[in-house]
Amino acid sequence: MKLLIINGPNLNLIGNRETDVYGDESLDQIINWIQKKTKNIEIDLLWFQSNSEGEIIDKLHWAMHNDIKGVVINPGAYTHYSYAIRDAISSIEIPVVEVHLSNIYERESFRRISVIKEVCKKQIKGLGKKGYLQAINFFVSAK
Ligand code: DQA
Repeated sequence: MKLLIINGPNLNLIGNRETDVYGDESLDQIINWIQKKTKNIEIDLLWFQSNSEGEIIDKLHWAMHNDIKGVVINPGAYTHYSYAIRDAISSIEIPVVEVHLSNIYERESFRRISVIKEVCKKQIKGLGKKGYLQAINFFVSAK
């Protein structure tokens, strides 16, 4: 089973960025940790990070034609206002799980809105890197 994991803007900076909120591990370290944790499961994880809304949308469209069975997405700040990413998620007819490292409901008020929540199967927040693992397990147990 192929799963696509998309990380949006500024998530390439975690490890250095606002470490009190996002922790001190880099995205590569998190990816390595998840790859190790899932090594005995028959899944193929495809990792993608972009700071650009259009590239994220193109990747979601790409997923339709590349046998992707599920998408895990942390759209960063696009979560809170990108109707274009929301439309892309509803258009592709692939189940999508929304993940946030931090608990977006316990931070600034603008973060409490997720415009993608309704078009995702599940929303996971506040669990740090374990949130990605929980999202992957959602697809593994649904298989
Ligand atoms: C985030 C939360 C967003 O509000 C923020 O803009 C991010 C990261 C998270 O993982 O907690 O970039 O999606």
